[in-house]
Amino acid sequence: MVRPAARLPDGLASDAVSTSSDLTVIVLAAGGGTRMKSKTMKVLHRIGGRSMIGHVLTAVQETQPTRIVAVIGTQREQVGPHVLEHAPDAVLAVQETQDGTGHAVRVAIESLEAQPAGTVVVVTGDTPLLRGESLAAFAAAHSESGAAVSILTGTVEKPFGYGRIVRNSSGGVDAIVEEKDATEAQREIAEINSGILAFDAAFLCEALAGLTNDNANGEYYLTDTVKLARAAGLEVAAHQVDDVRETEGANDRAQLAALGRILNDRIVTRWMKEGVTIVDPATTWIDADVDLERDVTILPGVQLLGATKVDEDAVIGPDTTLEDCEVGAGARVVRTHAQLAVIGMEATVGPFSYLRPGTVLGAAGKIGAFVETKNAQIGNRSKVPHLSYVGDAEIGEDSNIGAGTIFANYDGTNKHRTTIGNRTKTGSNNTFIAPVTIGDDAMTGGGTTVRGDVPDGALAVSAGPLRIIEDHRNRKHS
Ligand code: UD1
Ligand code: CA
Repeated sequence: MVRPAARLPDGLASDAVSTSSDLTVIVLAAGGGTRMKSKTMKVLHRIGGRSMIGHVLTAVQETQPTRIVAVIGTQREQVGPHVLEHAPDAVLAVQETQDGTGHAVRVAIESLEAQPAGTVVVVTGDTPLLRGESLAAFAAAHSESGAAVSILTGTVEKPFGYGRIVRNSSGGVDAIVEEKDATEAQREIAEINSGILAFDAAFLCEALAGLTNDNANGEYYLTDTVKLARAAGLEVAAHQVDDVRETEGANDRAQLAALGRILNDRIVTRWMKEGVTIVDPATTWIDADVDLERDVTILPGVQLLGATKVDEDAVIGPDTTLEDCEVGAGARVVRTHAQLAVIGMEATVGPFSYLRPGTVLGAAGKIGAFVETKNAQIGNRSKVPHLSYVGDAEIGEDSNIGAGTIFANYDGTNKHRTTIGNRTKTGSNNTFIAPVTIGDDAMTGGGTTVRGDVPDGALAVSAGPLRIIEDHRNRKHS
């Protein structure tokens, strides 16, 4: 595309539009977001297992930019480190006072060692549905068009609050007019600025210096760069986003929940297309970083959270929450709450089991009904079938823990471990007073309280002999 050759006012350089592949992405996240009514800054609110800005940064990184600059201000002690968790190479630019999007971008540019070349894309930190491929396509369309500014626009039913796209009679974009500055007629315009803009870097750097704050908000509007480009005879391009939801922000909790639902639908649909059976998408919640293999089946009422990974043929649910768990192939997990647990292949868990961090269940093992485990390694084919607490324990292979067993791991001050060997069968209603070790091929009787070590092959019993007091009902107790 040929650039219009025109004289530039206010010293704007005529060679402003360059074609370098250098890509800078600026993420705006300095504003507080008062409508959340929260002590947590807006962009840190979470959906799909990530903060809103975490989703944005993930999409930004998919465009493989040369550099990322995040503009932070409100709660920067929290936002700054959080940005670096998601984008370790990002440059943090601090905007001390929130004087508008144009000011924020100027702060971003000034934080760089050298003025950027090529393309600068500006996104906001609160559009969690933005997809990397959409952003990359927009950036590519911008640099191919040779425009000084490109706007990602959307057409919405309720344009209130957005900057409106004002087009001229030949269809070109003349300006973006903000809600408060718009005339009655302009407020009717349904085409809006998504907030995502792309710039020729050299043009942007010069245009920022030309922004003023004589508008209804008293702010430096980034959107005024459009007028400056037009005045300089430079081209302004507008690209319609395919799915306006991708650029929607969440300003309050209701919008956050609505975006969370859309994001979840997207994730659930993706997994079904990858070969996962999801019986009830409406009650299945899957975080963005979860990984599922083919032929996993998810029954209704399941939440797969964090970095949970499920191998093929496993069946999860109904009514199960797994957070940061690994589930092996063919395992069965029913009505279970588990966090930071590893469930081996072909193992069974539940119903009504509570697996706390550090639980590792071996292949074909079992954690049954009303069992709580914590920091417990349970070997292959070993079983804890009923009503037990297994804390700080190591159980070998092919062992069985009797119903109603308590691993008494806490002496009131310190936690201690219980070790149980292979092929050992413990009786029902046992208490293991840790630290204690029970060897291989050992047994314990029902009701045993194990206070000392039990050697390999031994039987431990601690309950006294059964006493029968005849005719008790007619005896006097005085
Ligand atoms: C902005 C656009 C508007 C667009 C809308 C899309 C301007 C002037 N207006 O309006 O055309 O339709 O987004 O959502 O750009 N921010 C800073 N520092 C500031 C001001 C804002 O970092 O000084 C950040 C905010 O945290 C936010 C983003 O920039 O992430 C947008 O700011 P906001 O005040 O929400 O702009 P809008 O009025 O929504
Ligand atoms: Ca906004």
